Amino acid sequence: MKELLQAAATRAGRYLETLADRSVTPSAEAIEHLSQLDEPLPEKPTKPEQVLALLDEIGSPAAVASAGGRYFGFVTGGSLPAALAANWLAGAWDQNSALSVMSPIAAKLEEVALKWLLEVLGLPLEAGAGFVTGATMANFTALAAARHALLERQGWDVEAQGLFAAPPLTVVVGDEVHVSLLKALSLLGLGRERVSRVPVDGQGRMRADALPPLSPATIVCIQAGNVNTGAFDPAAEICAATHEAGGWVHVDGAFGLWAAAAPHRAHLAAGLGQADSWATDAHKWLNVPYDSGVAFCRQPEHLRAAMSATAAYLAQSDQREPMHYTPEMSRRARGVEIWAALSSLGRSGLADLIERNCRYAARFAEGLRAAGYHVLNEVELNQVLVSFGDAETTRRVITGVQADGTCWCGGTVWQGQTAMRISVSSWATTEADVEQSLAAILRIAGKHR
Ligand SMILES: Cc1ncc(COP(=O)(O)O)c(C=O)c1O
Repeated sequence: MKELLQAAATRAGRYLETLADRSVTPSAEAIEHLSQLDEPLPEKPTKPEQVLALLDEIGSPAAVASAGGRYFGFVTGGSLPAALAANWLAGAWDQNSALSVMSPIAAKLEEVALKWLLEVLGLPLEAGAGFVTGATMANFTALAAARHALLERQGWDVEAQGLFAAPPLTVVVGDEVHVSLLKALSLLGLGRERVSRVPVDGQGRMRADALPPLSPATIVCIQAGNVNTGAFDPAAEICAATHEAGGWVHVDGAFGLWAAAAPHRAHLAAGLGQADSWATDAHKWLNVPYDSGVAFCRQPEHLRAAMSATAAYLAQSDQREPMHYTPEMSRRARGVEIWAALSSLGRSGLADLIERNCRYAARFAEGLRAAGYHVLNEVELNQVLVSFGDAETTRRVITGVQADGTCWCGGTVWQGQTAMRISVSSWATTEADVEQSLAAILRIAGKHR
């Protein structure tokens, strides 16, 4: 076992070392070689060393180099060294984090990680949380708590009775709501189309002056960090109006919530702490390995009521039992990497990670503007939207950048305009990576002028 794990570490180390010099996109040849995996299920056992060798030889060249410093697609964090190493150790532990009796260490690390997260994200220290797979499930989990609380206040037990004869709830979202939040609403029986949409400004921020009538049966879903522009909804104003009406505010802060951890960006997150629930990703800006998200709820009892499962064989205790805060029962110990990342960065390291990524985004915007291209968003966070001319030209540049392989950026359509989207979200990105990538983008765009 020990030799096998050492071999895995050697192969993984070699893979990571190659990232600086290889194409971010896997080569066509590497992708073609994946067909070698199309084999029938082996009749007999294969030696673990051989399994590992096959995985590395076929798999590593075909992996997208998102763990490196020049991947700017979607909103993708890398894996901090401490988080990756902790993930390996925790893999060896193979703990089931459902109950504290099943894994005292997993339960303890979740508790500590939760306390630290509340501090760095500027959330109420009494809040509770569930450690889930990502922001989609965090939105789902937190909104289940909202659904529970608002219906309970009307005398309806939604967990027991379901939604069929329940008093109606109204859900309010901004016009630039993330698709994952709508998916969460659909899973909760609240309906992805049964929402009231609020107009937004040119950055995608919900207009607080355009909110519909609010009531104690309203859940208002705001955004901290629009996936295209990085913009924040006006949290303080919306929280005040919603709370005055007796409603609930939920924040989709998949990556934007982390702005609170960086002193020079914290003003963007102002007012978010006044909400009732929050969703965020740790696999984005905290840079832990996939998959990892957190659903927070100001009053832990609402989350617990929405997520609890009880049965005689599931020992009850006075401790925080992880499975009462998540949709899953058995699951891996996600608190381990969150704890390791925060432990290794400390408050200042986390602030520096966020700040550095935002500075690099501003450098991209400055370099693109200086070359005469149109940056479509106010670059206050880590997202940059750039147009290289008409839609067709922009699409050609995006295809060219992806094929070139120096870096990887995706495409989007922002309020009717086709754009390339650059998201700087990795600890591994250096100033040299940014300059190298910017030079490649400008070289390729120059060919299409
Ligand atoms: C604002 C926002 N919400 C939710 C999500 C979904 O996150 P995940 O893919 O981790 O479920 C994203 C992903 O980019 C996002 O940007």
